[in-house]
Amino acid sequence: MNHPVTPELKAATWTGVGVPRPHESAELHVLGQATYTDDIPELHGTLHAALGLSSKAHARLASLDLDAVRSAPGVVAVYTVSDIPGTNDCGPIIHDDPILADGIVQYVGQPIFIVVADSHTNARRAAKRGVVNYEELPAILTPQQAKAAKSYVLPPMQLLRGDAQAAFEKAPHKVKGQLYVGGQEQFYLEGQIAYAIPKEGKALLVQCSTQHPSEMQHVVAHALGLHSHHVQVECRRMGGGFGGKESQSALWAASAAIAAARTGKPVKLRADRDDDMMVTGKRHCFYYEYEVGYDAEGRIVAAKVDMTSRAGFSADLSGPVATRAVCHFDNTYYLSDVEIHAACGKTNTQSNTAFRGFGGPQGAIAIEYIIDEIARNLGRDPLDIRRLNFYGKIERNQTPYGQVIVDNVIHELVAELEQTSEYRERRAAVAAYNASSPVLKRGLALTPVKFGIAFNVTHLNQAGALVHVYVDGSVLVNHGGTEMGQGINTKVLQVVAHELGLDLERVRITATDTSKVANTSATAASTGADLNGKAAQDAARQIRERLAEFAVRTLGGEISDVRFYGNEVHVNGQSVPFESLVQKAYLARVQLWSDGYYATPNLHWDPKTMNGHPFSYYAYGAAVSEVVVDTLTGEWKLLRADALYDAGQSLNPAIDIGQVEGAFIQGMGWLTTEQLWWNPAGKLMTHAPSTYKIPAISDCPEDFRVRLFQNRNVEDSIHRSKAVGEPPLLLPFSVFFAIRDAISAVGGHRVNPPLNAPATSEEILRAIAAVEAAA
Ligand code: MTE
Ligand code: HPA
Ligand code: MOS
Repeated sequence: MNHPVTPELKAATWTGVGVPRPHESAELHVLGQATYTDDIPELHGTLHAALGLSSKAHARLASLDLDAVRSAPGVVAVYTVSDIPGTNDCGPIIHDDPILADGIVQYVGQPIFIVVADSHTNARRAAKRGVVNYEELPAILTPQQAKAAKSYVLPPMQLLRGDAQAAFEKAPHKVKGQLYVGGQEQFYLEGQIAYAIPKEGKALLVQCSTQHPSEMQHVVAHALGLHSHHVQVECRRMGGGFGGKESQSALWAASAAIAAARTGKPVKLRADRDDDMMVTGKRHCFYYEYEVGYDAEGRIVAAKVDMTSRAGFSADLSGPVATRAVCHFDNTYYLSDVEIHAACGKTNTQSNTAFRGFGGPQGAIAIEYIIDEIARNLGRDPLDIRRLNFYGKIERNQTPYGQVIVDNVIHELVAELEQTSEYRERRAAVAAYNASSPVLKRGLALTPVKFGIAFNVTHLNQAGALVHVYVDGSVLVNHGGTEMGQGINTKVLQVVAHELGLDLERVRITATDTSKVANTSATAASTGADLNGKAAQDAARQIRERLAEFAVRTLGGEISDVRFYGNEVHVNGQSVPFESLVQKAYLARVQLWSDGYYATPNLHWDPKTMNGHPFSYYAYGAAVSEVVVDTLTGEWKLLRADALYDAGQSLNPAIDIGQVEGAFIQGMGWLTTEQLWWNPAGKLMTHAPSTYKIPAISDCPEDFRVRLFQNRNVEDSIHRSKAVGEPPLLLPFSVFFAIRDAISAVGGHRVNPPLNAPATSEEILRAIAAVEAAA
């Protein structure tokens, strides 16, 4: 039967969102034509800067001789702390982050001086010629040492519910232990870079690879003693940020700006990879001590955990990171009586910072480790113990921090994945394989994720946008979010095109610019598309409403009947091309551009009690991984991974699946091969890809099945979608626990392998030896 395509049907099915569209820069990316900061044509007279770095972890600067630097070929100027016109600080929250060392150095790699030269190479060569006399001081390097010395960058925090100690004492079964989970280098492909250009008067334009243009604006203004209105920061795109350019782009922006202000010339500061890794902070490593009580079936009745992170020498974002770790310790599990302590250990190392997940992964991995042990102690499949402890839908549904979970889909999501991944069949197959394979052991694990979406600092949950409709009917969008490859611009573009009923080609997004949208938050906490999508929608709606009113005024009909789709405006039985209506509206003096604003409703948080409603909603997911481990060498391979992720009503399934795949492999790298190693003098020795092993294409599983869970956000998020940027980073917990399962097979699953992360081959061999010794 043939159904006529009625205008109503056309209007109802036309959509700009919910469809798999390529990344708006995909073509430019593959052609090498996408402009990154270093690709912006340099102005005549541009100078290049490099930083002179500390070679000691903790020392007083007894003397500084920079004559050899000044006389090096091509050098134009050398600046130290006394040359900074304004405040010597680039810390995002607590102002304990010097741009240049002032009398004391607190880690190997801390910048002491800025060299400005006629070329990048000359600046770098000259920077090596500084002569520094240090009076060395004792250094603290690890979170364990920091904990023992009570050396913290912030007062420790705690979240208590019920009486965990009493419940623990009464519990019929107990697990106690420690765990160490290493940090991670962001390893964005494009390193840190800033290009500062002096403008008229005191003003300055800073082109910067940053997730947080407004913060760069503030830091540069303070460093130069200027007002915010003097400083314009622009970023078209980053070649990856992953949290590493939320606060840590500030040092580079400020240094380039200081050099530009002092020399009066454009100055570019591009970190080479080794310097970038030596200078900037990473994901926090965490050290945990835990005591958990459970009943005969494996239900947790008491949980006590004490976590200490390696914050590095200054606070940076360590406080909010620790807060998120505390708020993610529950993961998908109801914990009745719980006591969580978290401290940010002050160490003489890089100041650690945001990294995809922002403490969430570090919080959740601890409870997964504990559940894995409970299952082994009871001789049960870990999936059964996980399920038993899942949050309920109408009871057992309040988090330790007081938020009631109203959107729990973990039961159905895990049930679906259990089926589609053939979990039970493969569990039996793995056991059969291991029974006849003395050296190669297989392992299997299913791990769930629940991730709270919103900045855990409430006021950051706001965004703005600016939409211009030009007289030819083309549309230009600017919003406060930044593009780091995650596809925010594609999604925001889709939202605006959808609102105005236009093809995507009619809409273009421009560089993020502090002079267009003011007081923006970092593009972070996975909220970029949620917040900026809503703000852009708000702007587009205002324009659409004005156009609808104008259409009715000139063509008749009812405002509520005006439809925008297919590049046309439909009203009163007539269809007008969008651009024709726009032209007429312009002549009739209708405003064709608008700002838009959004603030996430219903959020509150009390940092003292660590209670409130910090998240707008939760995103869920789960993954199953199967590995094979060579128990003689510690080598392993991921054979198959199945991931199911809840992106709500996805704005763009192609981009979302890409985010899940990327986050999975990045998280797998964190938990397996990416090891940061500082020598006993506190020097990071793994400061290049030659010594720091990120996953390669050959590490991706041949059989990788990523799907989106069919769902709809219960919150009124942008088109009922859910955030996707960070939560899937927790899916490869399944890889780590599959490796632990394979190691456990060595001891007939009777011993809990003491496996820390990253599970490098050495760590795997160490755990196997421990299992063999105990078995
Ligand atoms: N994806 C790519 N390709 N590159 C990145 O740097 N950063 C991640 C995630 N996905 C990142 C990425 C991090 S840490 C966050 S917080 C989110 O993207 C930020 O973008 P969104 O909020 O728009 O999802
Ligand atoms: N994520 C990222 N950045 C942040 C957060 C967060 O939850 N809170 C404050 N800054
Ligand atoms: Mo992402 S760690 O919030 O930049």
